[in-house]
Amino acid sequence: MNPERRSIIGGVAAVGLGQVLADPSKLHAAPFGGEPAASGADARSEVRLSLDGGWRFFRGDIEIPRPHSGDATYSSTKAGAAGGPAASRFFDDQHWRAVDLPHDFVVEGPFEESANVAQGYRPKGVGWYRRTLHLDAADRGKYLELQFDGIATNATVWFNGNVVAHIWSAYTSSYIDITPFARFGKDINVIAVRVDSDPLQGWWYEGGGIYRHVWLARRSPVHLITDGVYAHPRQEDGRWRIPVEATLANIGETASRVSVEVVLIDPDGKPVVSGRTSVKVGPLEQKVAALSLEVNTPRLWSIETPTLYRVETRVLDEQSVTIDAATSSAGFRSARFDPALGFFLNEKPVKIKGVCIHQDHAGLGVALPDSIIDYRLRRLKDLGCNAIRSSHNAPTRELLDAADRLGFLVMDENRLFNPSPDYIEMLQWMVRRDRNHPSVILWSVFNEEPLQGTPEGYEMVRRMAHAVKALDDTRPVTAAMNAGVFAPVNVSQAVDVVGFNYQIDLYDKFHLAHPDKPITSSEDTSAVMTRGEYTTDMSRHLLSSYDDVARPWGATHRAAWKAISTRPFVAGAFVWTGFDYRGEPQPFEWPTASSSFGIMDLCGFPKSAFYIHQAQWVQDRPVLNLIPHWTWPGREGQSIKVMVMSNTESVALRLNGAMLGEQKVDPYEMNTWEVPYRPGRLEAIGMRGGRIVARAFVETTGAPVALKLTPDRTWLAGDGRDALPITVEAVDQNGRPTPTANLPVELEASGGRIIGLGNGDANSHEAEKGNHRSLYNGLLQVIVQSEPGTSGAMTVRAASAGLADDVVQITVRARSGPTSAAL
Ligand code: GAL
Repeated sequence: MNPERRSIIGGVAAVGLGQVLADPSKLHAAPFGGEPAASGADARSEVRLSLDGGWRFFRGDIEIPRPHSGDATYSSTKAGAAGGPAASRFFDDQHWRAVDLPHDFVVEGPFEESANVAQGYRPKGVGWYRRTLHLDAADRGKYLELQFDGIATNATVWFNGNVVAHIWSAYTSSYIDITPFARFGKDINVIAVRVDSDPLQGWWYEGGGIYRHVWLARRSPVHLITDGVYAHPRQEDGRWRIPVEATLANIGETASRVSVEVVLIDPDGKPVVSGRTSVKVGPLEQKVAALSLEVNTPRLWSIETPTLYRVETRVLDEQSVTIDAATSSAGFRSARFDPALGFFLNEKPVKIKGVCIHQDHAGLGVALPDSIIDYRLRRLKDLGCNAIRSSHNAPTRELLDAADRLGFLVMDENRLFNPSPDYIEMLQWMVRRDRNHPSVILWSVFNEEPLQGTPEGYEMVRRMAHAVKALDDTRPVTAAMNAGVFAPVNVSQAVDVVGFNYQIDLYDKFHLAHPDKPITSSEDTSAVMTRGEYTTDMSRHLLSSYDDVARPWGATHRAAWKAISTRPFVAGAFVWTGFDYRGEPQPFEWPTASSSFGIMDLCGFPKSAFYIHQAQWVQDRPVLNLIPHWTWPGREGQSIKVMVMSNTESVALRLNGAMLGEQKVDPYEMNTWEVPYRPGRLEAIGMRGGRIVARAFVETTGAPVALKLTPDRTWLAGDGRDALPITVEAVDQNGRPTPTANLPVELEASGGRIIGLGNGDANSHEAEKGNHRSLYNGLLQVIVQSEPGTSGAMTVRAASAGLADDVVQITVRARSGPTSAAL
């Protein structure tokens, strides 16, 4: 989280969306739009505390002692009586490892050929977590809730020896009322979590452990439930309004009448409009308070200008004292799918230029600090991408916050296809959590389900779509179908927008048969390439970068986009995938452990697919790139294929100043030359209207002589949560990055820590933790993190035998993250 994202309510910093509650007493004292909070907010008054720090972790299972005697069996079944590592006390976890969350224990392990290929050949298994929790005596009487944003995969949670949750989805949050079990003052609470990462929910790398944030919410007995404020602007007959539904719960013993006040704050921090209503909530009941805010001529949210308003919701008691509050973002935008003309945002046609993504990143597995999520989305923005499909599960809350802020459209996808009550609950959790995000434009209920072309599938989707609509009727429901669209009864008949996975050859036929049904690609391409390689070598598991290898059901990047771009009725593309991910190493198996589908590799380093899509997608500036690199010792005189990727009108190519020819740009296929190799400088020149608008070149480089570190930004917040990717390259004596260097590198960080290493090599089995890793085709990424409560400088040094070291200083800015709950 960066400082810009902190929203301020009455002097107390609040973060996130929909359920972040500020100190009510301060809210009452200081109205909206107060001064920024000083760092180090008062832990006694903050409503949501972080539980990310202070855990003990054990990799492996520990059996909970089984009783033998009748009496012991009797006692063991009672509330609070869990034993062994699940016990509230009397368990020695001091030899367990200290860890902070988010944490993925699977990525810490080795690669093993006997492990599951889809999970990236990483053995999974069981892990235990324990943490103490001190609650101040002043917390007595409050509503206390433990929030696990995501655990992979099956987990049991104990609080003070009571089972408080059985979790069995890696992608669904759990909100647990711990009020009845809580102890205060000197009496310490214990949270124990057993995680079994073996059950699979996906055919991609899913990691293992408590890999998303954990929070403790402390609210008044009458309070807004988590994700309990639905406030999403809608436009009707040209007028904007925000219907607000606030769900309140009362854990008190008597009924309580409260007022709910909702204020809309514009992007400059000024209140725009407010509304108030009152509601009586009985003991242990929930009630919805509803009101509507009329808004005149709001500033619109769009991809280019993602203007966000804030909705502040306060709960006031009968004395008009604010007892609870929540903040959510709101974006005013209209969105619709037209069956003939595709997608419209704010009544302007927008071709969806999207990517599918999984959630893992180099060095980190699935446990991504918020700033790495942000980094990945910024890389996508640079690509010219305007949409993300969170395949095939609900993303982290922080990804949607970033999508709202950076201007992305999101297809928010449900994991498990099943209309039974437990599963509907998960689907509805996703909708409730995400329905305020302006970025979300589509709810997807499934991906490629074998029942998609059957009456069963149709009936299942009908129920799931109905469950979605009950909570949000402003967005269409889709399903990502890879077959069955012409079956007599099929899922396309139960959704608002039909998602096509691949099946490019069926776009026209389906549109002709169903001219009133909007369609989008929900998944396309599935081309594979290895960053920095230019020849496909099946024996070495390497794939060429010329965009000439695709899976049988897919197409090249160029062919897929051409099919979509030239059909106005196809709303857009969702390329499989934006980034490489662990698992699915197709077309290979062991020792290849990661996929090669990405437009970028696992680190976010661009492959040539990046430049192809940039040329196709970016419109507001000239784009020009060329491949391959130009360092080919021993290849003098041999012909080398050169591909120029540009959005200009024509491109010319020169080698060492000599003109090799000019070509009209082919916006779909791109432009190629066969060039007899001579060392030197190969330059591409892009022209529009006869004027040079862009130049790009590749040069023959010498031997590497030094390392070079380039941080993604020059500073890091000293909150122990912020993380920063740093690129490591090897440069020649003229400071030029050498594109084929695969040298081992030692890394060292002082004033901070290294949390992960990666180089995008799908065939590498080097450790992702620690301090050494090799460059792969000239690049390596080291991800560093601050220590909590630090400021000043962090120094990162890189060394490789025979090369000059490089050192970079990162400014560490004092900033406190969310306050941590006491141990
Ligand atoms: C699709 C599937 C994706 C991924 C991809 C690989 O069919 O939806 O999850 O497996 O194939 O090409």
